Amino acid sequence: MADRKIVPGGALRGEATLPGDKSISHRYAILAALAEGASEIRHFAAADDCARTLSCLEALGVEVRREPDRITIVGVGLDGLRTPGVDLDAGNSGTTLRMLAGVLAGQRFDSTLTGDSSVQRRPMRRIVDPLTRMGARIEARDGEYPPLRIHGVALRPIRYETPVPSAQVKSCLLLAGLFAEGATTVVEPVPTRDHTELALTEFGARLARGPGAAILAGRPRLAGRPLDVPGDVSSAVFLMAAALVLPGSELTVRDVGLNPTRTAAIEFLASMGAPVNVTVTGTIAGEARGDVAVRYGPLEGGVVSGAASAKMIDELPMLAALGPYTRRGITILDARELRVKESDRIAALADNLRRMGARAEALADGLTVAGRRPEPLGGAEIDPRGDHRIAMAMAIAALGAARDSTIHDADCAAVSFPGFFECLDRLLERRQTAST
Ligand code: S3P
Repeated sequence: MADRKIVPGGALRGEATLPGDKSISHRYAILAALAEGASEIRHFAAADDCARTLSCLEALGVEVRREPDRITIVGVGLDGLRTPGVDLDAGNSGTTLRMLAGVLAGQRFDSTLTGDSSVQRRPMRRIVDPLTRMGARIEARDGEYPPLRIHGVALRPIRYETPVPSAQVKSCLLLAGLFAEGATTVVEPVPTRDHTELALTEFGARLARGPGAAILAGRPRLAGRPLDVPGDVSSAVFLMAAALVLPGSELTVRDVGLNPTRTAAIEFLASMGAPVNVTVTGTIAGEARGDVAVRYGPLEGGVVSGAASAKMIDELPMLAALGPYTRRGITILDARELRVKESDRIAALADNLRRMGARAEALADGLTVAGRRPEPLGGAEIDPRGDHRIAMAMAIAALGAARDSTIHDADCAAVSFPGFFECLDRLLERRQTAST
């Protein structure tokens, strides 16, 4: 695994388009596989996580054709998946594992879902319990962890209130609901990203939505269709943050997803005084998209808590790492879920920020990061713990430090943002990062 040296300073200037949205790509791939006919998906995410979803679908007998700017998935219909000859390997991708578990629970064959050492520490009871209520038979290690051994059965619909705010849990149950006769209802305590609901409707399923609830009519006929994935807004937030660390920066990210369930972090940055301009240019398949422009400007700092923490769960590492670049610092509360992501992100952030000389304190459900001090952050050896978002968040924090830093195993950024360091280098006025 390659390390990356971060040389501080410079300014970000110009325009960027980003790899396709990871969350949307997973959903389009899975629904295209279950549809009748072919779906051509343009700008499908290049992220490693989405490649895992595609290889799992191939192991289930689905044909996937890959071209540089698009993929084509030849759907097999709701009942067309085949017994996989191998264990299905989700790699680092919790989304692949949890969403496919919903699909596999309703098949007429048995299967095993597994992943890398990080995924094997991710909690699964949150899907195993409700799927079991639908009639599924699933064995998990210690009742909680992958590998999941799934014995396919005929599922029954349920009404389920998710105790944790999780789009993956909601999506898992809605996908399982495709195979159950009748209406499956999922109610969530806090609205999470709604890409599954939008994509199901786009593929022809009947889905009704109420406040905090999605109700899916089971056994629909899904129809393959052309699709286009917007740039990943979660990736855009890293570049925006870089522009807010480096004075003189001015950056526009083009054609990025602007689904309102995903833009809370941009709104939070604007509320802290960031000069941000968001322009919605259109909506495709229910997904708003457009351009985000940002200039350097001083940040006030603030607190993220309650429902807001769930809405910007993937952006919290970047916001925390911006703490030392704000006047009042950043406090994150009500974000216990950060402990069970690709790493324990609360511990990883507090540890790595302290290595740079920031004052950061881990809390049970979040962290506090002190604001700007007279002396800048120092350079550090950063251990991202194999977590793409920690690697990228700390790389951005390191751009504003007094001395060089090294991000160990920086390749993990490719889990969601392949080409992240190259993209930064291109936008920076002079070369800042280097493989070591
Ligand atoms: C995702 C949902 C979130 C998020 C993950 C992607 C999705 O996870 O952190 O990166 O695509 O549904 P949870 O549902 O576990 O919060």
